[in-house]
Amino acid sequence: MAHPLIASEMKTAKKPKEAPIPLLDLRKQYAAFRHEVGRAIERVLDSQYFILGEEVQAFEARAAEYCGVRHAVGCASGSDALLLALLALEIGPGDEVVTVPFTFFATAGAIVHAGAKPVFVDIEPGTFNMDAGQLEFVLKRHPKARAILPVHLYGGCADMDAILELARTKGIAVIEDAAQAIGSEYKGRRAGGLAELGCFSFFPSKNLGAFGDGGMVTANDDRLAERLRALRVHGSQTKYVYDWVGLNSRLDALQAAVLRVKLQYLDGWTEGRQRNAAHYTRRFQELGAPDEVPVVTPAAAPYQTRHIYNQYTLRCQRRDELRHALTAEGIGTEIYYPLPLHLQKCFADLGYRAGDFPVSERYAHEVLSLPIYPELAEPELDRVADAIAAFYRS
Ligand SMILES: Cc1ncc(COP(=O)(O)O)c(C=O)c1O
Repeated sequence: MAHPLIASEMKTAKKPKEAPIPLLDLRKQYAAFRHEVGRAIERVLDSQYFILGEEVQAFEARAAEYCGVRHAVGCASGSDALLLALLALEIGPGDEVVTVPFTFFATAGAIVHAGAKPVFVDIEPGTFNMDAGQLEFVLKRHPKARAILPVHLYGGCADMDAILELARTKGIAVIEDAAQAIGSEYKGRRAGGLAELGCFSFFPSKNLGAFGDGGMVTANDDRLAERLRALRVHGSQTKYVYDWVGLNSRLDALQAAVLRVKLQYLDGWTEGRQRNAAHYTRRFQELGAPDEVPVVTPAAAPYQTRHIYNQYTLRCQRRDELRHALTAEGIGTEIYYPLPLHLQKCFADLGYRAGDFPVSERYAHEVLSLPIYPELAEPELDRVADAIAAFYRS
């Protein structure tokens, strides 16, 4: 399926006056390492070894080091990483897992695939992440909760100390959904190493994206890592002997080779995203005093020591009109996410209603993600900021 937000697949908006600025243009990034990645791909093709093996092990070792953890286990996608993490903790029917409704579908989808029940807690105003203040209340009402699954949305970490402390007092596990947050830091510690397990996605639009689907689970516990390695090959540690019912969810050697090349560039790309975010924030602050400004820039929580800006997401008045105006100017944007999960038809049997999670519901009407990829030049950022300023002036 064509990805409507990626430049190579984006239909140009009607008669833009200047070159379009897509939400993401991966072609620019690719140009910087195409020869290197070509050689890496050729190496795999020459070996004709495509599933797991040395390429995957080499990438896992580098990725574990990058995330500051003992183990990284590659798998087929971020969605599978979440499912594998739940299975590794033996979470299943009769169990509940507490997460947020303001996230990508897979966070809660994985809980259902594991046979457990998602329980939602609202996000806190400002950070887009799990409200640890409300979590205590939710855990009291849900004694069957076996794990907490906070999401580091847009590349910024949830308030992990508060969440981990509540989990510790209840004796339950924490799984980080770090799909959007590779390299993000909470009080100087990297996402993926903050809890029992961390789940990553290498979907092409992520800061570290594969040439297709890919994912990874991180762990410090040797026993959990061993179980994850078995679970991704149907639950087998010895060929044709199965201790668990696992999945077929492996990282391809080709994707691992690509990711190993790209990982070398990741910090530079993250700096580019941070630079762009700072530029936007400066430009939007110039629009006026905070209580008059029609857009709210992403707030940096004090514990967030390294935001990696997978997305730069504003909260805006007249969001849909603004988005329409930007589209007419050839500027790509996206709404992550327009309908919170507790209001999705497929989760109707969980019994939630409109009004249950007011922050998530309000933000679903206000959020707008802007182009933030590292190769954007300052004049392009200014064009986006100017178009937004012009919209609110008109
Ligand atoms: C927060 C979150 N969780 C999970 C996933 C699932 O990852 P994947 O698309 O690799 O399955 C994504 C991907 O967009 C995500 O953003």
